[in-house]
Amino acid sequence: MTKVMNVAMIGGGFMGKAHAMAYASMPMFFWPAPAIPHRKVVVDVTDGMAEEARRRFGFDEASSDWRAVVNRPDIDVVDICTPNNVHAEIAIAAAKAGKHIICEKPLARTVEEARAMTEAAKATGIIHMVAFNYRRTPAVALAKKFIDEGRIGKILNFRGTYLQDWSADENGPLSWRFQKKIAGSGAVGDIGTHVVDLAHYLVGPIAEVIAMTKTYVTTRPIQQGGVDKLGASEKSADVERAPVDVDDEVISMLRFAGGAVGSLEATRNAWGRNNFITLEIHGTKGSIHFNYERRDELQVMFADDPADARGFRTIYTGPAHPYGGGLWPIPGLGIGYSETKIVECFDFFSAIASGKQPSPNFEDGLLTELVADAMLRSGETGKWETVS
Ligand SMILES: NC(=O)c1ccc[n+]([C@@H]2O[C@H](COP(=O)([O-])OP(=O)(O)OC[C@H]3O[C@@H](n4cnc5c(N)ncnc54)[C@H](O)[C@@H]3O)[C@@H](O)[C@H]2O)c1
Repeated sequence: MTKVMNVAMIGGGFMGKAHAMAYASMPMFFWPAPAIPHRKVVVDVTDGMAEEARRRFGFDEASSDWRAVVNRPDIDVVDICTPNNVHAEIAIAAAKAGKHIICEKPLARTVEEARAMTEAAKATGIIHMVAFNYRRTPAVALAKKFIDEGRIGKILNFRGTYLQDWSADENGPLSWRFQKKIAGSGAVGDIGTHVVDLAHYLVGPIAEVIAMTKTYVTTRPIQQGGVDKLGASEKSADVERAPVDVDDEVISMLRFAGGAVGSLEATRNAWGRNNFITLEIHGTKGSIHFNYERRDELQVMFADDPADARGFRTIYTGPAHPYGGGLWPIPGLGIGYSETKIVECFDFFSAIASGKQPSPNFEDGLLTELVADAMLRSGETGKWETVS
């Protein structure tokens, strides 16, 4: 019989919503499920917020004390959906208590925190995962399959972008995402790390970077209230403003350990680009293109096609492709952001069931943090920085 596992979810905001939805939905898609996640306790900063999250997201209990919750013997899994400033503290406590952990990205604010989390997780033999969900898009997993099969040859070049505009309004509030002490960094850590994770997944480790970082909006209205009001606009002139001390944009060149070169652009100031993630990968025998706005499709070009038929073909992902057996039963129905989180949940509980670490785990998250740190250093020095 499929095992029921009790989940304690810390943080009931945007990602809390996504994860709670995945816990409820995963066994409906992937059956037999590797485990049935049970929404046991949700934690937020006040009893009132936790209770609201409990009712909304279908948990049994609410709490405002994550320390007590992660030490409870009836909790199997700790899910960290808080802002970045408490990821390390919660993960280290949960690892010491022997709980399996899924932690939202970026793993931490700094390399030091990410390293401490990784050491704590490895010391107790728990299963650990970082929630870089975009690699769970079936079309991206199909790209990985083609690359691993050598279908586009040796990888020469990777181009990755993550462009957003929810924060391009200079009157968007100074939420935690614009404060270094909470977020660690801006576009680099928030969205750049998603691209780094995709680059590591598809091409391999990044060894060296050179980067420009930029902060366009240097002050923002002080936010009223605690939860991030993503995309809100505080237009009244009498609202006090305070400095933004993180980057809005990073543009970086990359050298991969395996010899490929590449580039990464991540910005929060691209009007009209809502959640625009693109990947283009060129190999000695073909090319791959992916655009998250058309996330069901993978464009591939195989150079060994007959000369008169050469060109990009569009593969619409469905049951024949990665995760297709669990998602929708016929091609053409399409997937959304939710399905990437459901697949992530499936992979996490599959790892627990098999006892084999998933990817990206905390070690992968630490490697991504090292690249982010090298980009931030290069933004200061203007020089190539080694990922060490
Ligand atoms: N994978 C993705 O696509 C993705 C997207 C957005 C955010 N994220 C990541 O998810 C994490 C959370 O981001 P979000 O967008 O959900 O933020 P959010 O502001 O919407 O929600 C955070 C929640 O955590 C609560 N919280 C804060 N400190 C807490 C504490 N000490 N104990 C308990 N609860 C606490 C807040 O009150 C809030 O309810 C961040 O690490 C972020 O980078 C990932």
